[in-house]
Amino acid sequence: MNPDRAASAGYTIRPMRAGDAPLLLDIDTASTALFATVDNPEIAAIATSCGPPLEDFRRHLEASEVKVACDNADRPVGFIAFEALERDIYVWLLSVHPDHTRRGLGSQLVKSALEAGGARGAERCVLSTFRDVAFNAPFYRDQGFDELPLSEAAAPLRERFHGEVPAGTDPDLRLLMQFPLGNR
Ligand SMILES: CC(C)(COP(=O)(O)OP(=O)(O)OC[C@H]1O[C@@H](n2cnc3c(N)ncnc32)[C@H](O)[C@@H]1OP(=O)(O)O)[C@@H](O)C(=O)NCCC(=O)NCCS
Repeated sequence: MNPDRAASAGYTIRPMRAGDAPLLLDIDTASTALFATVDNPEIAAIATSCGPPLEDFRRHLEASEVKVACDNADRPVGFIAFEALERDIYVWLLSVHPDHTRRGLGSQLVKSALEAGGARGAERCVLSTFRDVAFNAPFYRDQGFDELPLSEAAAPLRERFHGEVPAGTDPDLRLLMQFPLGNR
């Protein structure tokens, strides 16, 4: 994949601004449609699940660091949201609107979170995702993440892991992944 693809298409990445939250919730809702393509009914059902109430979502965004990908008219089309968790940063959401996927934006957003985490002095970037969904664990593996076995994760990470298992899906379909930031 060409890392400059997003920049050459006129996309930019900037911090979240006041007023972005409803647009980001719409992007997240639209992005979940991609799960309908997954050949596992438990996971495919996520495509039709309800997102969080806007006020809860806004509060969580405001307590996080959020990088927003915008098109050439400065309209948000994707974002990544992460927060400090002990000595790590924890990514709790990454979404790109389906009209703008496969152009390198997801990768650029991950890169921007890794850079921000490194600048904060975080030890690792950690997240939970689906093991066998092409645009989940394999996507992160391509960016240099590897598995953090649940048995080796500290209690707060295990708690986040369990809290993020979507209703109706088997936790064994998911994993924690980590990227070391110390040597960036
Ligand atoms: C995951 C997501 C953010 C990726 O966004 P994106 O902008 O398409 O990502 P990129 O363009 O950087 O993709 C990089 C690579 O990931 C893989 N990939 C991304 N989407 C894929 C898909 N639908 N099917 C198969 N591989 C995919 C490909 O290897 C791709 O490279 P390529 O386009 O050169 O083949 C986006 O698909 C999304 O919002 N999905 C729904 C929400 C989600 O799953 N979030 C992450 C959960 S932890």
